[in-house]
Amino acid sequence: MALGGSPVADRALEPGADESDPSAGPDSSPERPLMVLTGVSKIYGAGEIAVHALREVDFKLELGDYLAIIGSSGSGKSTLMNIIGCLDQPTHGSYWLDGIDVGSLDDYELSYIRNRQIGLIFQSFNLIPRTTVARNVELPLIYARLPKAERRERARAAIEAVGLGNRGSHVPSELSGGQQQRAAIARAIVTEPAIILADEPTGNLDTASTRDVLEIFFRLNAAGRTIVMITHEPDVAAHAKRVIQVADGQIVADMRQAPVAGPPPAPESVSPDHLQVAHT
Ligand SMILES: Nc1ncnc2c1ncn2[C@@H]1O[C@H](COP(=O)(O)OP(=O)(O)OP(=O)(O)O)[C@@H](O)[C@H]1O
Ligand SMILES: [Mg+2]
Repeated sequence: MALGGSPVADRALEPGADESDPSAGPDSSPERPLMVLTGVSKIYGAGEIAVHALREVDFKLELGDYLAIIGSSGSGKSTLMNIIGCLDQPTHGSYWLDGIDVGSLDDYELSYIRNRQIGLIFQSFNLIPRTTVARNVELPLIYARLPKAERRERARAAIEAVGLGNRGSHVPSELSGGQQQRAAIARAIVTEPAIILADEPTGNLDTASTRDVLEIFFRLNAAGRTIVMITHEPDVAAHAKRVIQVADGQIVADMRQAPVAGPPPAPESVSPDHLQVAHT
């Protein structure tokens, strides 16, 4: 699956586009990686107050992988995720997403990718207050200019998929933390993005709600979505297929827990019958 169907992705098909594709080089894997970061540095500020949040990071991620990023506070995890999610640009180095040099994109193209190809989930949910779950989930589709009837139907399906079927008319303050995070996940998946990025999605949740989120991520990844998740919790990272550890702006460990092809390590709550489940 490619990030096709967008004017941005189509640029990769232009004549000559492959010549500068870093994944076409001799040391690339036979599968074209979804993400390729080469020599990526991020420096906040300048001079004496400059903070080197990322230092010459080289990193590849395959389509369909489920990555957990771990590391101590201030190590550069969110900075890395913001670059991967096209929310921020590196100070030095290059980032190629699905064969496209992200550094060459203008603001319109970047926002197009963020809206259509990437679903973002945060520790603090970031739902709009005093606005129903249904409306919150519909919002990315309004930005995508979908007709009203289709928006309603897709929002309903996304809310259903995260197990919040009867909560669409509630506002966030009427939901538990776990329910709010599930609403935020519904909002992230309503555009059917190929990539889901989650920055400490279970950081504010109790054990039961954490399990719910992991079960949803399990299903999304088993259905082919690529997931990148920051976490401080080893129990949460255990459900990813791959774990990288970031320290002082560098990747210091890279562990493969399950093959990219096939389902991720299943949460206990998922029965073997569900391993083949196709996401709606
Ligand atoms: N906008 C910014 N301006 C200046 N410094 C920043 C900015 N954002 C992050 N930093 C600094 O960059 C470094 C990496 O920050 P980052 O947010 O990526 O860490 P993190 O690993 O996500 O930490 P945490 O686990 O606490 O969320 C830190 O030293 C941080 O203070
Ligand atoms: Mg962070």
